[in-house]
Amino acid sequence: MALHDFMTIVGRTRELERLHALMKHVETGAPGTVMVDGPGGMGKTSLVHRFLTERGDLTSLRASGDEAESGLSFGMLAQLAAARAPFSPWEGSTDPIVAGLELLDLLGRLQEAGPIIVVVDDAQWADAPSLQALTFALRRLRADSVLTIVIARSPAMPRIPPGLRRLLTGDQTVRLTLAGLGAADLRELAGGLGVRLPLRAAERLREQTNGNPLHARELIGQVPPEVLTDLSRPLPVPRTYFHLVLERLNGCSRPARNLVYAAGVLGFTSPLDAVGRLSGIDDPVPPFDEAVRARLLLDRSTAAGLTALFPHPLTHAAVYQNLSVLNRRELHRRAAELADSDQERLRHRVRASHHPDDALAADLTAFARGESATGNWSSTAEHLINAAHISPSQEERAHRTAEAIASLIYAGRVEDAAELAAGLPATCPVDIRCFALGALALAAGNPAEAVPLLTEAWERCDAAAHPVRAVRIAECLSILCGMAGSGPDAVLWVERATSSATGVPHPDFLGVIHMCALASRGRSDTALALARDLPASVAAAGGGLDRLLGRAAVRMWNDDLDGAIEDASRALSRSDRHSAAYRVSAHAFLGEAEFRAGRWDDAAAHTLAGVSLAEDTGQGWMAEIPRALAALVPAARGRFDEAEPYVAAGRASRASPYSGLPFLNYALAFTATARGLAEGVVAALEPVTTRRFRDFIDEPGLLPWQDLLADAYTRLGRHTEARAVLDPFEERAADRGRHSSLALIGRARGNLLMAQGDFRGAESSFEAALVHAARVDLPFDRARLHLDYGIFLRRRKARGAALRQLESAHAVLWRLRAVPYLRRCERELTACGRPAAAPGEASGWNLTPQEHAVARLACSGMTNQQIAKELVLSVKTVEFHLGKVFGKLGVASRAALCARLRGDDRGDGSADGGPGPVTR
Ligand SMILES: Nc1ncnc2c1ncn2[C@@H]1O[C@H](COP(=O)(O)OP(=O)(O)OP(=O)(O)O)[C@@H](O)[C@H]1O
Ligand SMILES: [Mg+2]
Repeated sequence: MALHDFMTIVGRTRELERLHALMKHVETGAPGTVMVDGPGGMGKTSLVHRFLTERGDLTSLRASGDEAESGLSFGMLAQLAAARAPFSPWEGSTDPIVAGLELLDLLGRLQEAGPIIVVVDDAQWADAPSLQALTFALRRLRADSVLTIVIARSPAMPRIPPGLRRLLTGDQTVRLTLAGLGAADLRELAGGLGVRLPLRAAERLREQTNGNPLHARELIGQVPPEVLTDLSRPLPVPRTYFHLVLERLNGCSRPARNLVYAAGVLGFTSPLDAVGRLSGIDDPVPPFDEAVRARLLLDRSTAAGLTALFPHPLTHAAVYQNLSVLNRRELHRRAAELADSDQERLRHRVRASHHPDDALAADLTAFARGESATGNWSSTAEHLINAAHISPSQEERAHRTAEAIASLIYAGRVEDAAELAAGLPATCPVDIRCFALGALALAAGNPAEAVPLLTEAWERCDAAAHPVRAVRIAECLSILCGMAGSGPDAVLWVERATSSATGVPHPDFLGVIHMCALASRGRSDTALALARDLPASVAAAGGGLDRLLGRAAVRMWNDDLDGAIEDASRALSRSDRHSAAYRVSAHAFLGEAEFRAGRWDDAAAHTLAGVSLAEDTGQGWMAEIPRALAALVPAARGRFDEAEPYVAAGRASRASPYSGLPFLNYALAFTATARGLAEGVVAALEPVTTRRFRDFIDEPGLLPWQDLLADAYTRLGRHTEARAVLDPFEERAADRGRHSSLALIGRARGNLLMAQGDFRGAESSFEAALVHAARVDLPFDRARLHLDYGIFLRRRKARGAALRQLESAHAVLWRLRAVPYLRRCERELTACGRPAAAPGEASGWNLTPQEHAVARLACSGMTNQQIAKELVLSVKTVEFHLGKVFGKLGVASRAALCARLRGDDRGDGSADGGPGPVTR
């Protein structure tokens, strides 16, 4: 809706003061959000417009939802950005996260000229992807001078997505609920319209209208002043705003009336020639003029032609609702014939249909499937929901609703999916209910609940009749088997999915699970062969992206870290047409590979981005992996308070065999190791050692927990148990020729043999480990090996050899800033008579991982915008972090920062280039 028809407003001083006060706060460099709500016509739009006029010195972005366009992906965002041409990145994009990032980027750029005001009016009618992108962006504003004002009749309106509703009703949001104007204000309002009202007459007007300014203005405009002021005579009935509009309509000629009705059917605003065609009027200009004079329409003409606009949403609603059902349908039927896009045509056909309508439901379903092929999951879901509404048979209705639920999960709208599922009718066939609830349980991270539901859904599903659903069920079950650690079962479900999938596009995780499951059984070659035909550059929307991500994992497990990082980065950069979960896992795989490769700041940043994405898109089942990975870097650096929140959830009970992958157990053990708590390691890994399905756990290279446990047992004097962990692991690692695992084993066995007094055995074990470690580039693992070997050599009084090992360890641990390990190394060096050359506390060490990541990316030559995109942050947040870094390191320029980091950070494993540009 365009901001329209505004005169000076009366009253509302308290509300305006609050907006101004908040803006003052925003101007200090903090974001603010306001929810303005209240009944229709109460003056929400007017209030905000007034505020914008008073702060005309600031840049503002405005958009408003339009009921007719609520199915149009990114319509609202396109409006927000409209005045910022050439900026319309969401054209062609289908991913709310990408759009959210673009919005953040835009806000960042605009802030260079000062604080910004973003206004979203009639949010309840904005399209869902825009609202999701807005929510995503709002959550990421930290150090931004952005005041966001969201206007809706109520935040509880069903079309406001749950995530946004929470944000708008949360503590961080200022709520302005508009009540009616007082009598004195109405008197002033009347005065502005040239009518002098005594206070008592104004009081009566307030009672009649609840102080609703739209209604009051209408009465003042239509009722003669002498009637308004004469308290002995009642105000004319009917007194509703609707009736006042209809009176005006009835006062028009028939052509003008028909034109207004046609406009009402087309939407809040539409090109006049389309209105003319629909109303069957050859020359629409004269009746249009008449409607404008009657204040039923406004004339908004542009270079593109005449445009008709309703003066107020309630005027539009009154006109539309006054049409008889028959006339309304007939007009929509004709509008469908005249429509120039499929989407528009379908919208009118839905309104024209005599529910139920089988053919239309089928067309909507076909359109939805087309949308899903381009990854437009929100639109897929909306069309399926419409199709379900008008499906004649209850069963079809349920089928389509279930598919809509699955699409919403893919779109990262898990809460919307849950709401839809809660509304499944009692008559819904069991298999459909099981599928919908099972998919939801999986997404929410309740595998124990998901497995029986999905198993039953599969057993009852007629795959020939419903191949899309059959594939999805099988995909979910393959994921669950993978999570439980059963490779063969996961492969079995992948095969079932594939054989049901004739003509159905592969869902996102089929290839990933297939390859990972094969690799978990030692069949990495077979897994990699599945991705052999992947072209060098995988097309954005084409198939194969699932296998690209699968290959990233298999390469990582097979010590090809460069290959893994490349694949995961490519998967990430092309993930915008894939499900929310796909994007989360691309972040997680990338972060994990970077961690192994010693690129810890990148790893921390990518895993943190994965955590926040998983949370924002409700992917509970996926969240555990990035969360666990996010604990590793702070733990290894001795920042245990930072690591703790990420692993806390891992301590929750894990009763089911399907309780996620054992990432959190591993992260806990890793943390306990860094703290030097051997009992803690054993306790953390207890659920891993007792797990029923062992493929993913026991396969060398996947999750390197064995050496941690063996070391802990050794330290506790439980030597037999240490050997029992190492022996089978070594056998398998040797069989696979996996050097990384063999290096870990050699180190742990060296420690064990040393503890048992077998010094010769220990030495040859350490030496063998060194040979393996030289074959792969795993800096942290190698440093730990040098450290342990150095300790052994010092105890054996081989001081020179010990020093060589310890110094090698020290150099790497220093670069990684692995403080607890470094301290140990320094103690050993001192004991060898050579204190570490470098000071123990580097100036950069009190940076948070995010500050580090930002600093490092800045020094790799990235602009702040590029950094923001990479780390899923706002540009201002990046600047904020950089400012902190400057302060903590005592540097004043980007160049100085880069020089400093190069000094401290060289050899972080990452290929640091020269210093980045000083400016953004
Ligand atoms: N404080 C005010 N003083 C004078 N006139 C006002 C005031 N507030 C609103 N109006 C008038 O009342 C009409 C309705 O206001 P507005 O469009 O702002 O309502 P709204 O709450 O945004 O309604 P909706 O929920 O339908 O969008 C407008 O024509 C406007 O000019
Ligand atoms: Mg409004």
